[in-house]
Amino acid sequence: MILNDRYVVIGNPIAHSKSPQIHARFAEQTSQSLQYERLLAPLDAFDQTVKSFVATGGRGANVTVPFKLDAFRAATQLSARARAAEAVNTLRFDAGEIFGDNTDGVGLVRDIVNNAKFTISGKTVLLLGAGGAARGVIQALLAESPSQLVIANRTPERASVLVEQFAHEAKGVLQASSYADLKSNFDLIINATSASLASELPSVPPSIFSSQSFVYDMMYSSHPTLFMQLATSHGAITRDGLGMLVEQAAESFFVWRGVRPETASVYQWLRTQL
Ligand code: ATR
Repeated sequence: MILNDRYVVIGNPIAHSKSPQIHARFAEQTSQSLQYERLLAPLDAFDQTVKSFVATGGRGANVTVPFKLDAFRAATQLSARARAAEAVNTLRFDAGEIFGDNTDGVGLVRDIVNNAKFTISGKTVLLLGAGGAARGVIQALLAESPSQLVIANRTPERASVLVEQFAHEAKGVLQASSYADLKSNFDLIINATSASLASELPSVPPSIFSSQSFVYDMMYSSHPTLFMQLATSHGAITRDGLGMLVEQAAESFFVWRGVRPETASVYQWLRTQL
């Protein structure tokens, strides 16, 4: 019997994850023989869960909430982008090593630049939030050469810490702010807060939006998120994070298989499933 290469997405909870459907489509499209499943890890046993999976022949894993930091620590080798993010969403198991990567940043940027056709270069960018989701995309955003990247957070001190950590990569471009101190509008606004999980909105001043603003929410749902609704009410164009989900998955697939799947049809299909 020929066994397919095995991959999993590890999280807690994990039942909701759409990654198995996405990767099944990528595998079919690229004629790769692999199997991809959900794996629930106990909150206190991420390392053990990974070890058992590797022992039974696992080749790679995606890692989601709340284990991206555990995966960062478990990796024996790290990509530069995982090091910058201080978080890992993609693990590859080869020859006794655990390679840790982070595809979230490139996933976000590809969705904005390639799919939504919004050029980040030369634009003013506002990143809302200073947790793991925000940290994971800063390097990829800076690589696009915005004229300005302001990180604003409800707790402004956390934004300042991030700015200090990335300042060497972006002299003069990167700034920290509180929400109240945001005065001007921005070309691109990215919501990387988890406020919507509690059906809340980050309390940003309406002046950040203009009819020229492109507003991206990393969250997604079948309906526009609260933050997208707010942005629309101020005339902005909006997009949710479903495309980022598909693009980060495609990059993980590439890390494992060396083949780049086509994403547009998978995105369209997934949208109909929400
Ligand atoms: P994640 O890994 O998803 O980024 P996190 O590290 O817990 O999760 O960070 C959550 C982010 O959402 C933080 O920036 C948090 O702001 P604080 O640092 O001030 O806590 C932000 N956040 C969560 N709920 C929010 C709300 N109701 N309004 C504004 N920001 C919120």
